[in-house]
Amino acid sequence: MATGITRRSVLSGMMAGVTSLSLSPNIYSRVGPLDHIVRLSSNENPYGPSKKALLAASQASSMGAYYPSKITMELIESIAKKNNLNTSQVTLSSGSNEVLSAAVVAWGKRGKILSPEFTYDLHLGYAERTGTQVIRLPLDSEMSIDLDAFEDAIDDNVSMIYLCNPNNPTGKTIDGDVLRNFCRRVGRKVTVLVDEAYNELTENPKYSSMADLIKDDENIIITRTFSKLYGMAGMRIGYAMGRPDLIKKVRNHVMAWPNIVGLAAANATYEENDFIEYSLNRINEGRKIVNEVFRNNGIEPLPSETNFVCADIGRQVSEFEPKLREMNVQVHRAYPLYPRHLRVSMGKIEDLERFSDVFTDIYQA
Ligand SMILES: Cc1ncc(COP(=O)(O)O)c(C=O)c1O
Repeated sequence: MATGITRRSVLSGMMAGVTSLSLSPNIYSRVGPLDHIVRLSSNENPYGPSKKALLAASQASSMGAYYPSKITMELIESIAKKNNLNTSQVTLSSGSNEVLSAAVVAWGKRGKILSPEFTYDLHLGYAERTGTQVIRLPLDSEMSIDLDAFEDAIDDNVSMIYLCNPNNPTGKTIDGDVLRNFCRRVGRKVTVLVDEAYNELTENPKYSSMADLIKDDENIIITRTFSKLYGMAGMRIGYAMGRPDLIKKVRNHVMAWPNIVGLAAANATYEENDFIEYSLNRINEGRKIVNEVFRNNGIEPLPSETNFVCADIGRQVSEFEPKLREMNVQVHRAYPLYPRHLRVSMGKIEDLERFSDVFTDIYQA
């Protein structure tokens, strides 16, 4: 299956016809971690993109002179079909951060956005800088999203609730039926934006996804990405699903559209079940390793159904993380709100083995 070396050789093979163009020899060091760096900081999936995705991307890049046309609709159709929707219920963007930003900016014009205090928030920062008011609500004592607090906080000035399920950086998942009932109830007053970037990695993606509510015309928008399960973070393909009127509003606020290379790769890999299974197996294997590293050091990690694990290591991450970095192991930097919580992303298995050794040495020193 795809490994860094194989991917390079696949690409070299594909480029064989244009070798006279002499490519920059250090291209890999400019688009990913250097060989000696273990990068476990950005929730990427180094087992992607699949070979099929790479081949499609390479072919599409030869048509780079042209704007995307039919290929955009092909991906929309595939996503709609897989989720039992029609094409007016899906829109694409350059990474899901873009549809998230479009949604919070659009709804921010009409009122405040409620969000968990400890969550993915690049799009929320963007909305704030463009004039939207964002209210952040604390997690509960178990570090779960406190849905009751959200319900209590709704008033006439709130237009949208943003929820990330599973949540980043905790990795915790809200129970599917609990969230379904919540969305149905509060959807009468405000739109619920559910970020499902990690949904496909959960034990039961169908149960934990809110996609089935779209058929009932509920007041929700769901976002997903090709950056995680499909290992295509650098190819920037994301999408939103929802009622046609809501999706139209999101689409009208999107500024960064997908590119043909990412679209071709996404089309090629979307239903690639062998690769999906392989990717999931590697991520689950990696998560076991990281959970074990923590437990062997007397640390209980938060339960994660994602490609990252978060744990209270009982020490200041602002002091601990630089020591890992000195040993060429990169994890997420300290979170000001939870200064003892360390988040580790799944890398390749050999990277996680290196993390295991380095973490244990430093922790036990
Ligand atoms: C919860 C969540 N949502 C959205 C994104 C954005 O992903 P992308 O823009 O690559 O689709 C990320 C990225 O890490 C994330 O963690």
